Amino acid sequence: MPSDSNPAITLRRLIDGYQVSQAIHVAARLGIADLLGDRSRTVDELAADTGTHAPTLYRLLRALAGIEILREGNGHVFELAPLGQQLRSDVAGSMAGWAAFIGSEGYWQAWTGLLHSVRTGENAFRHVHGADVWSYRAIRPEESALFDGAMTALSRQASAALLAAYDFGRFRTVVDVGGGTGALLAAILRAHPGLEGILFDQPHVVAAASAFMERAGVADRCRIEGGSFFEAVPEGADAYVLRAVIHDWDDVEAVRILTVVRKAMAADGRVLLVERIIAPPNEGRDAKFSDLNMLVAPGGRERTREAFELLLEPARLQAAAVIEAGGFAVVEALPR
Ligand SMILES: C[S@@+](CC[C@H](N)C(=O)[O-])C[C@H]1O[C@@H](n2cnc3c(N)ncnc32)[C@H](O)[C@@H]1O
Repeated sequence: MPSDSNPAITLRRLIDGYQVSQAIHVAARLGIADLLGDRSRTVDELAADTGTHAPTLYRLLRALAGIEILREGNGHVFELAPLGQQLRSDVAGSMAGWAAFIGSEGYWQAWTGLLHSVRTGENAFRHVHGADVWSYRAIRPEESALFDGAMTALSRQASAALLAAYDFGRFRTVVDVGGGTGALLAAILRAHPGLEGILFDQPHVVAAASAFMERAGVADRCRIEGGSFFEAVPEGADAYVLRAVIHDWDDVEAVRILTVVRKAMAADGRVLLVERIIAPPNEGRDAKFSDLNMLVAPGGRERTREAFELLLEPARLQAAAVIEAGGFAVVEALPR
């Protein structure tokens, strides 16, 4: 009889994690959690709403009930279990955007190149697709939107802990460099009514941001600029936030970005790198798997605290503090 205490079964479940990822991804793409909300519904109703094949949808949903995302009642009726609630798009800390993204074609296929990466040290995405993630997404609006939605979900999830850990109220203007569609900056501006913000990202990414800022009620205090952070970023601000940006790049590229930011910042400015920090051996699985994700997808890496200090130096910056913020750290850097 299989049991959780049987190491072979435990390992088999870890090995088969890809099945779980795809099952959750498909449920997210179909919007099952939003369709269920706080109700119980039959599989036939859900199939009608999603335009899917009811007997096959049932197979998906009962499997998800087997891992406590859903609960199955009598008569092929389903409701959300507590874990599944986090797949709703309207809850705090929603994972809907992340789940919808992880099975997207380009990203999913890139993971088939992990063995190549480990053998060669090369980026898997480029090996599999012949292009880097950013150029690939720039000409694929659907994949780009799924990625931006994933980043929005992760930013929203992280913003409460970040706002609790770090006082942005001390600044006049915050530039969110590589800020995606603006979820984090909107949260910062909402929390600090005296603050002005500038959202900076690639032109096709910020194209959707002004509507987002309007809805967040901060459009009057937020300028939106498209460009490349390898060339220039908005000048003269006293805070430059880079959340989950530096980890996308290797050391040479990361120093180039930081050098551009250093050149633009006010003399009394601060650079705030919001990143995961690699923990000592056997600790911190999230950062270590995120590091593999960086290897596979954008071609960057997660770093130790010391590695961040080494990156800052050639950009004429120095770490003033490292502040824990809910699984991330704020590496606060000042001009040297
Ligand atoms: C991992 S995402 C993080 C987004 C956001 N900071 C967050 O935490 O949700 C990295 C961001 O860097 C942006 N980016 C990539 N290359 C860029 C470039 N050359 N110039 C400006 N932004 C760039 C991407 O469009 C993306 O929004």
